[in-house]
Amino acid sequence: MIKDTMSKISITKTENSKLKDVDFNNLSFGSVFSDHMLVCEYKNGAWEAPKITPYQPITLDPSAKIFHYGQSIFEGMKAYKDANEDVFLFRPLDNFKRLNISAKRMAIPELPEAYFMDGLKTLLELDSDWIPTNEGSSLYIRPFIFASGEGFHASPADAYKFIICSAPSGAYFSGKVKVLIEEKYSRSANGGVGFAKAGGNYAGQFYPTQLAIAKGYNQVIWTDDNTHEYIEEAGAMNIFIRINDTLITGPTSDRILDGITRKSIIDIANDEGIAVEVRKITVSEVVEASKNGSLKEMFGAGTAAVISPISGYGHRGQDYDLPDLENTYASILKKRITDIQTNKTEDKFGWRVKI
Ligand code: PLP
Ligand code: COI
Repeated sequence: MIKDTMSKISITKTENSKLKDVDFNNLSFGSVFSDHMLVCEYKNGAWEAPKITPYQPITLDPSAKIFHYGQSIFEGMKAYKDANEDVFLFRPLDNFKRLNISAKRMAIPELPEAYFMDGLKTLLELDSDWIPTNEGSSLYIRPFIFASGEGFHASPADAYKFIICSAPSGAYFSGKVKVLIEEKYSRSANGGVGFAKAGGNYAGQFYPTQLAIAKGYNQVIWTDDNTHEYIEEAGAMNIFIRINDTLITGPTSDRILDGITRKSIIDIANDEGIAVEVRKITVSEVVEASKNGSLKEMFGAGTAAVISPISGYGHRGQDYDLPDLENTYASILKKRITDIQTNKTEDKFGWRVKI
């Protein structure tokens, strides 16, 4: 732990806040950016003290390894403000730990905890006016690290940048989502980088997702790369499937991101008395459940989208609709998790962190 990080963070404030230009009643996701960003450089074998500067473009050499070899990882988290203007994060240490899990896999030097946590806190204190308070909105925070070091040699860079910037954001998806069960393309494989939040994982999803969108779906359901028989993730979200009254989600693995929303939903569902099974779930089990009427709900879970109900899915040229139920598990769990995040309810799990 680095002592006294707060005093080491240099701060240059903007002289030209963009806050007045933002319509907080009409926020899309991640398209306007708050006034400041945190930048921390890795050079000569060590992370240097963070600097907070006005939000601005960065200059890189064309040979920076991020451009050629994709050494890049990120996190996604949110800040919330309650009715008293108090600011909260949700399980931020889990994002920090996962960033370093991703870093290790991508041969990126691990970041000291204090630079992440104290840097984040300082940045949020400065940009706290950017945290929306409208229902369903929050400040989406994007910490990321990439290889800024130069050279065409295919080996890890010797310099990196860790940046945190943020965007006041509304819903990730508007409305329900129709998905296509993917049987040709894969987002991850055993021994690969699927468990890491590596930028390239997302680039690799774009093309299959474009194909699904062209067929009238919004997202792809990823299945395992080996047999395409096991359901793994929903786009960039973990997936939950309700058959009769049991909520099922797959176990995390090399191929599946260990989602913070996913593990919180499992704990909340247990606490609500909802039967939860963490086990492999096959496509045939889901199709069979559709046919016999026991498939009640499917939803994606992730920081950006929170809980995103799936209205139907396509499989081998056949479309299956999900029933339109009242009091869905998705709605109960979404309310409970967002009430915890926004300090509207007791947090018996100790997940909420006041800034
Ligand atoms: N799965 C993938 C591939 C993701 O990119 C994300 C988003 O972060 C998730 C799942 C959900 O993870 P979390 O709930 O930690 O945001
Ligand atoms: C998140 O849910 O925070 C993510 O990182 C998904 C992202 C691709 C928008």
